[in-house]
Amino acid sequence: MLIMSDPKRFVAAILWRHFRLQSFALAGLSATGIGLMSLEPVFIRDLINALGQPQVDSHHVWGLFGWICTAWFLSSLANRIRDFVELKTSPELRKQTQLMLYRWLIQHSSAFFKEHSTGNLSQKIKQAGNAVLVIMDTVLDNFVRLAVAIVIAAVVLSDLPTVIFVGFLIWLFGFLMLSWRLAIQCLPLSKRFGEAASASAGLLGDIFTNIDLVKSYAKHDGEERGLECALENEKQCSYRVRWFLIRMALTLYSGLLLFQSVFIGLGIYGFLNAELNLGEVVMVISLAAILSTNVWGLSQQLQSFYDQLGILQSALAVVFTAHTVVDRPNAPALIVRTGKIEIERINFSYRSERPVFQDFSLTIQAGEKLGLVGTSGAGKSTLIRLVRRQYDIQSGVIYIDGQDISGVTQSSLGRLIGEVPQDPLLFHRTLRENLLYSNPDASEEALWSAISSAHCESIVALAPHGLDTVVGERGLKLSGGERQRIALARAFLKGAPILLLDEATNALDNVTESYVQDSIARLCQNKTVISIAHRLTTLLAMDRIVVLRDGQIVEQGTHRDLLTAKGTYSQLWRSGEISSRAA
Ligand SMILES: Nc1ncnc2c1ncn2[C@@H]1O[C@H](COP(=O)(O)OP(=O)(O)OP(=O)(O)O)[C@@H](O)[C@H]1O
Ligand SMILES: [Mg+2]
Repeated sequence: MLIMSDPKRFVAAILWRHFRLQSFALAGLSATGIGLMSLEPVFIRDLINALGQPQVDSHHVWGLFGWICTAWFLSSLANRIRDFVELKTSPELRKQTQLMLYRWLIQHSSAFFKEHSTGNLSQKIKQAGNAVLVIMDTVLDNFVRLAVAIVIAAVVLSDLPTVIFVGFLIWLFGFLMLSWRLAIQCLPLSKRFGEAASASAGLLGDIFTNIDLVKSYAKHDGEERGLECALENEKQCSYRVRWFLIRMALTLYSGLLLFQSVFIGLGIYGFLNAELNLGEVVMVISLAAILSTNVWGLSQQLQSFYDQLGILQSALAVVFTAHTVVDRPNAPALIVRTGKIEIERINFSYRSERPVFQDFSLTIQAGEKLGLVGTSGAGKSTLIRLVRRQYDIQSGVIYIDGQDISGVTQSSLGRLIGEVPQDPLLFHRTLRENLLYSNPDASEEALWSAISSAHCESIVALAPHGLDTVVGERGLKLSGGERQRIALARAFLKGAPILLLDEATNALDNVTESYVQDSIARLCQNKTVISIAHRLTTLLAMDRIVVLRDGQIVEQGTHRDLLTAKGTYSQLWRSGEISSRAA
């Protein structure tokens, strides 16, 4: 996997590792095309000189004409073959670049995805795919063409009077230095533009994601103002880049005109002083035209080259940051025999200034059903996230069956832990795909058994296309309770030996909940379960209830024990935090 934040090295490494043959073919064909084209002035010089002889050698003249036509034909053929190779290479390169970025991105921790907007990240992946193409094209086409044209011009002109040759070299050096310096100045401007474009894309994504909120608070105007502000910033950045590019083009074009005028002037001067013959003057003029075209082409391309380099740099800087939750080298897979969970003296905070857990310990015995209760923000969901290793703890250890979870592979941990999150979201795919997500190989029978256990039959029956109904972005065409039941069915299908339920039934009505509770009780059989719950029915089914406050265990026992103790639990009970609705 390539992980580098320098865009030039990144592109060079992709091309070298995955597109070596194609890169050589593209550069070779560009060199052949321009090489043959640059020979044309030499043939024209010989043709004019041959036609100017008192005794014209027609055989020689037609021969030269044949060479000119052959050079044209072969040059054009090389260019067309190049087009074909490029057609095959570019889409694949774009695809591979996006996949490479995605593969790195997807391994970032949950914290990373909470810090970056999804719209922004998607935009960065797409932008990087396009930027790599422009950079490849500039290097393997424009740079190669100009280099070959310069070498041929230098060889041909070295036979002419020194002043023309030296003048050409001085101009060339000066022109390239100027182009390079100007293009480099453009880099920070392009980077800023890339960031501004990503920010507005992120904001748009955020608005669309929260569209119901925008509508219910009638915040259309406020959101539009925010978006307008972001788009204005993007416009200003784009304006600065474009204005710089116009000034750059003007400077470079002036340099080019100067070159052509001086070069042609020197040719005429040489002819008038009998240092050059007519054929050589025409050759100098033709060479000047070919060089000008390629130099101009490169200077134009340099603008988008540095533009895209800036955009790619800003994408790589976000994507290729170090992963925070990583598998150790050669980490073994987790093996769950009994499902005992030991949390030993852990310290954890999302932000260093505000710890969630300090020196926290808790053991959940194999097969135990543990209920977690506590006020909002006590750290209940965080505890579940830590057991799932969505975040790494700062110190302490979490063992599952004696294996430190930070020492086993994350994929094995994911496979062996079933989860129903607090607010389950679904993919914008069919019901069937969402259900089978936890176990794609499940039989049709197992699928329907999970649907029935989680009381999802009515959802499937009412969906217009049954199991093939697409559930809308994040499953938002379903109600919260329906999403929760789908998530439960997914957990049934997974059949993992450890279950983490984060208020798995809080969105269900009383009747459905009482049905689902029976199913959950069956699901929990022979499993180790941590269940965050506010409802009495769930808590009564637990072997032990742990009460959390500010990341500390303040009480533990059964429902009755805790009520008798008249502590925090009984306060929560009296305040209605623990609901007896479904009892
Ligand atoms: N991604 C995050 N980044 C920073 N702080 C967070 C993050 N997630 C949670 N917190 C903070 O950590 C604390 C514990 O949050 P947690 O979600 O574990 O609470 P909870 O007990 O599950 O509450 P609730 O009953 O409301 O779901 C809270 O103060 C919360 O603001
Ligand atoms: Mg929570």
